[in-house]
Amino acid sequence: MTQSPFSRPTTFGAYGGVYAPETLMASLIELEAAWTESRMDLSFQSELNHLLETYAGRATPLHHAKRLSKALGLELWLKREDLLHTGAHKINNSLGQALLAKRMGKTRILCETGAGQHGVATATVCALLDLQCVVYMGAVDAARQQPNVQRMKLLGADIQIVEQGQSTLKDAINEALRAWVGDPGAHYLIGSALGPHPFPTIVAEYQSVIGREAHGQFDAAVGGLPDAVIACVGGGSNAIGLFRGFLEHSSVDLIGVEAGGQGIFEGGHAARFQGGRPGILHGCETYLLQDINGNILPTSSISAGLDYPAVGPEHAALHELKRASYVSCSDQEALEGFRRLARLEGILPALESSHALGWVIANSKRFEGQRIILNLSGRGDKDLKSVTDLLGEQL
Ligand SMILES: Cc1ncc(COP(=O)(O)O)c(C=O)c1O
Repeated sequence: MTQSPFSRPTTFGAYGGVYAPETLMASLIELEAAWTESRMDLSFQSELNHLLETYAGRATPLHHAKRLSKALGLELWLKREDLLHTGAHKINNSLGQALLAKRMGKTRILCETGAGQHGVATATVCALLDLQCVVYMGAVDAARQQPNVQRMKLLGADIQIVEQGQSTLKDAINEALRAWVGDPGAHYLIGSALGPHPFPTIVAEYQSVIGREAHGQFDAAVGGLPDAVIACVGGGSNAIGLFRGFLEHSSVDLIGVEAGGQGIFEGGHAARFQGGRPGILHGCETYLLQDINGNILPTSSISAGLDYPAVGPEHAALHELKRASYVSCSDQEALEGFRRLARLEGILPALESSHALGWVIANSKRFEGQRIILNLSGRGDKDLKSVTDLLGEQL
């Protein structure tokens, strides 16, 4: 057996791995080595922590949502990642990887985006750190997330609209990976905990600040541990970031909420654990929505950030180990989550985060009297048009 060129495990149980073309292997090996070194480098860590604090706005608050808790008969705490600069958790990872790219001497960043939050976060840190930025975005997502397209342009990013396939996140990742194969000297700044090793590990580590903070804040405010921690799952970066703070505490339920779309039928949703099975996409083995021949199935969700047929490999492993459970929330339930949070707490959540809220609201009986932390991964500014069009009279 040939020895792996990587210095750490490339898989999470049976999932993950490095299914990448030969042209990218040198870049992936270089990335793993740079990241491993950077973890030991106190000056790198202190620069990252300084920017997270003074530029991105960490630590984010843990808010006790008292009115919503009362209405639901449980104790709900919201981790306010929506309050970060650029409006979502994505900047935790963009800052980390952009500093890493600088450390490797890169000057050009390629990235993909679905909801536009990762594109905005990456365009932002590229402006801050003087890096060239190219963002790949599906045409359908660009149309439904217009405010973020405008933001990226104003930040100086070159936006490449992708018309292939369903013109959503999967297709944007395809194009970004293709561009990287032709330009391996660039850094591909992936936006979620997916892709070939070492990306899922790197992104999870940069996002684990969410769970670390939430754990300490909950203990200080309430004492002890929550009964459950809950987050929406697109590729899975905000969820794994939250889960990592509680993984070792088996009394804490880890719950990931996927997009149930219009219902669990072929092409109607993006709930990989409801209708998917293991396969390979975008460089790793994980749960995928696919037909019997392994062709990727179309997905559907009102939320661009959850509208993706695969999921990060660490979630596939946590699912198999039964350490985390994965549920789904329909478009309608997510809209109800948006509406209730706006009316009862004065917060407009991103449609992605609204899925976690919508699921808790629809299943509140199950959590009666329990203490829950829900990750409010982003703010809803980008979704105002979709939500007003969809809610209409019910607003
Ligand atoms: C606000 C917000 N939350 C969640 C997600 C889903 O991504 P992930 O599962 O990587 O956290 C996105 C993706 O664009 C997003 O913008």
